[in-house]
Parts: sequence; structure tokens; C-alpha cells
Amino acid sequence: MPKQFHDQVLSADSLDQIFREARSYNGWLDKEVTDDQLHAIYELMKMGPTSANMQPARIVWVKSDEAKARLVDRVSDGNKDKVKAAPVVALVGYDIDFHEELPWLFPHTDAKSWFDGDEQGRKEGAFRNSSLQGAYLIIAARALGLDTGPMSGFDADAVEKEFFGDNPKHKVNFICAIGYGDKASIFDRSPRPEFDKFNRIA
Ligand SMILES: Cc1cc2nc3c(=O)[nH]c(=O)nc-3n(C[C@H](O)[C@H](O)[C@H](O)COP(=O)(O)O)c2cc1C
Repeated sequence: MPKQFHDQVLSADSLDQIFREARSYNGWLDKEVTDDQLHAIYELMKMGPTSANMQPARIVWVKSDEAKARLVDRVSDGNKDKVKAAPVVALVGYDIDFHEELPWLFPHTDAKSWFDGDEQGRKEGAFRNSSLQGAYLIIAARALGLDTGPMSGFDADAVEKEFFGDNPKHKVNFICAIGYGDKASIFDRSPRPEFDKFNRIA
């Protein structure tokens, strides 16, 4: 029987760790992130929902000095030091041809046929759902005691060519540093709007 959690709320400490106290870091402590931790992030993030369980994210976890050097050359000047210092940078990519995997990812119906011949629809679906998966990655990393630093300042064509080059249907969405954040590297928290500013309950 699956567990039911309907009457459970995470502790205040957990909510602080995942949301209220978590920050986007610019600098990193010199502390390793293990491959096991990267696997643990993926094991959580893959459980987050995607449309028709399409799971379009294709992630390259840049960890070696050699791969990091290739990435540094392809990010904006303001992000170079951040990438250099980060223990790991996840390149959150997506596969425009994700539908080829749907026969096993969504086995109870022929979902592949919904996307056959509709590349524009696939691009939209892959971008939308890989963005969600990137968010799940951030939340999973935080839940596991890690910090993150998402970045969109990079040359997407160059990153795709260098890291996803063997498949032209693989694109990059955003990149995300992962490690133990250096508290000295962050600004004061920017304002967050009150509910009424950008919300209404219809
Ligand atoms: C998709 C995305 C792209 C971002 N791109 C950059 C970037 O290129 N360089 C950078 O220094 N910060 C980047 N940021 C960090 C944001 O500025 C930061 O998350 C935001 O100000 C909130 O900061 P906080 O989490 O510390 O409150 C990016 C964040 C996201 C989610």
C-alpha cells in the first residue's frame, strides 16, 4: 500500500532548508560533491511530474577539471568564476525527440503518436517540462543538504555543440552549480512579493 501523507506538513526547519533560508550561491566552499550525491538528486527529481511522464531533461553533470574548463570558456564573463569554483555544474538539457521514449515511459496508451510529426509541439513540451525538472533538481539538491546556483548566462549554441554535440535534438535549458555555498558570496535577499501583488484566487 502506498503511504499517505495528507495530514503531514514538513517541519519548519525543512521548509527553511528548501525555501525560506535557501539561497542562490555565487561562491562555493572547497568541499567535494560525490557521484552518489548526484545520483541521489536524480533519484528524487525524476519523481516530479512531467506531462505524459515525458521526462525530457537530459543532464550532463560537469565535475572534472577538464570538463569544467570547457564549460568556463562558454559562459558569460560574470559566471566564469562561479563555474570554476563550483564542485559540480549540472547542464539541464532537453531532448526534442523525447517522444521516442514514451512507449516505455507512458506505457498505458500510445502517447508517442500525439507528438509524431509535431516538432513545434515537442519543442514546447520539452522546454516546459525540462524547466520543471530543473526546478525539481534545485529542490532535491536542497532537500539533500546541498546548495545551488542556477545560471542562464552562457552561450547556448556553444554549450550544446560542446556537451550535446552528438545529438542535434538535445538542447540546453539552463545550467546549475551544485555544492556547499559560501555565505560570503551572496547579496542580501531580494524582495519577494506579498500574495496580493501577483495573485488572485478566482
Ligand atoms: C533560470 C535562472 C537563471 C539565472 N541566471 C543567472 C546567471 O546567469 N548568473 C547569476 O549570477 N545568477 C543567475 N540566476 C540567479 C538569480 O539571480 C537568483 O536565483 C535570484 O536572484 C534569487 O536569489 P536567491 O535564491 O538568493 O533569493 C539565475 C536564476 C535562475 C533561476
